[in-house]
Amino acid sequence: MSEAPARCGVIGFPLAHTRSPELHRAFAEQCGLAQGYSVLAVPDSDFEPAVRTFFANGGCGLNVTLPYKQRALELADSASERAVRAGAANVLARQALGTVLADNVDGVGFLRDLKRLQFDPRDSKVCMLGAGGAAAGVTGALLEAGVGAVGVLNRSVGRAQSLISRMDDRRVTELSGEGGTFDLVINATSASLANECPEFPDELVGRATLAYDLVYAREPTPFMQRAAGLGARVSDGWGMLVEQAAESFFVWHGVRPDTDPLRLETR
Ligand code: ATR
Repeated sequence: MSEAPARCGVIGFPLAHTRSPELHRAFAEQCGLAQGYSVLAVPDSDFEPAVRTFFANGGCGLNVTLPYKQRALELADSASERAVRAGAANVLARQALGTVLADNVDGVGFLRDLKRLQFDPRDSKVCMLGAGGAAAGVTGALLEAGVGAVGVLNRSVGRAQSLISRMDDRRVTELSGEGGTFDLVINATSASLANECPEFPDELVGRATLAYDLVYAREPTPFMQRAAGLGARVSDGWGMLVEQAAESFFVWHGVRPDTDPLRLETR
């Protein structure tokens, strides 16, 4: 008798353009694992009931995306250290006794993609544009990877200060005007989703800079276009998306798929 497929999915709103189902289908096929993957596009008031119903009915795991990453952390029964540090969860996983664990795999996905790009974060000087959940997940991972300094620049200064306090590490500071280019400039704002570029001074970016947009896109985002115009090497967040999907698969099933075929896929 074959086992019933593990029930997984992604929850967020809106989700019209999510690529997660195709990534998870490919991973399940590659690993010979029976997994169903649903898209739960739920409006604001339905988030908590939808998650509870999903797990009460035997669901195995959920990816959580905008705008629910903070609420996912709040509703879970327990949380990993990396989710607590980020103040946000992008993975929920059913545990043995039916309780729900919150995790955050954005940071690990980002670091794996940096490795592919042959960028070593150790002792590097990073500029973080944005101060929301995505910025927090990635900053936490960079600190663990031995980054030298992270200068935070956000549209609203108060939110930049909250991120800095949450990280509680002397390497994370407000971006100072002392100049110099950065080794890595990360667009962790959601500006690209509105086809906009966050404001930043030209001098942050030079020929030796890697400019990384956490958003993935078929065409270079306005941030990538501007950074490329300033001489930087640029990347979108496709590799990070693939890597974080693989890490969620690992959290749910204990098996880590090979990401190379999907990362190299044209899109
Ligand atoms: P996420 O979980 O993806 O980080 P979020 O928590 O809503 O999403 O954070 C969005 C981030 O993008 C914030 O840093 C936001 O800046 P504010 O804190 O000032 O709101 C930033 N952001 C969104 N649109 C932007 C734009 N057009 N220009 C610059 N920053 C923008």
